[in-house]
Amino acid sequence: MDPIHLHDKTFIPYLSEQEIHDAVVLLARQINLDYRGKDLVFLSVLNGSFMFTSDLMKHILLPCEISFMKVSSYQGTESTGRVDELIGLNSPIAGKHVILLEDIVDTGVTIDKIIKLLELNGPKSIEVCAILYKKEAHIGTNIPKYFGFEIPNKFVVGYGLDYDQHGRNLPAIYQLKN
Ligand code: IMP
Ligand code: MG
Repeated sequence: MDPIHLHDKTFIPYLSEQEIHDAVVLLARQINLDYRGKDLVFLSVLNGSFMFTSDLMKHILLPCEISFMKVSSYQGTESTGRVDELIGLNSPIAGKHVILLEDIVDTGVTIDKIIKLLELNGPKSIEVCAILYKKEAHIGTNIPKYFGFEIPNKFVVGYGLDYDQHGRNLPAIYQLKN
């Protein structure tokens, strides 16, 4: 795979489509085992997780609901550490098991705030499933129970993740070249 250019920056290939696919299938298998017989709702955090959500769901064999919501916390290549309110959470989660689908858990500030807000709605449980986890950048309290790859603290794009709104359509994941 060749490097790609988005806006003013260059990104080099990091995780291939095949590697991502294999990780997604493993995540789905684990969730299929862990949530058998449970009232399950997937909450996908837009925009970043649209591609991951779509791929993961094709391998979920359980009866479940899928809902989408939005928060905004990131501009450019540095997290602002701010989360606005949840937009579009219109499915009731009271008494249900929730899996939050994220593209990436970086500082973890976003999932912490989302989980705090979701808990007000009385779910039975909340876990996080992310395709990427930047463990060394993590300063939050909630750790993703499910993640595809633990990655170093470098900016990545592709597979739903953007650099100033570009790059979300790339089927593989690329890392910022320094
Ligand atoms: P956190 O609150 O620091 O965990 O990050 C929250 C959000 O920032 C993620 O859901 C992503 O949308 C975005 N983000 C974090 N790291 C990256 C990255 O390396 N590339 C693109 N977006 C990122
Ligand atoms: Mg996101």
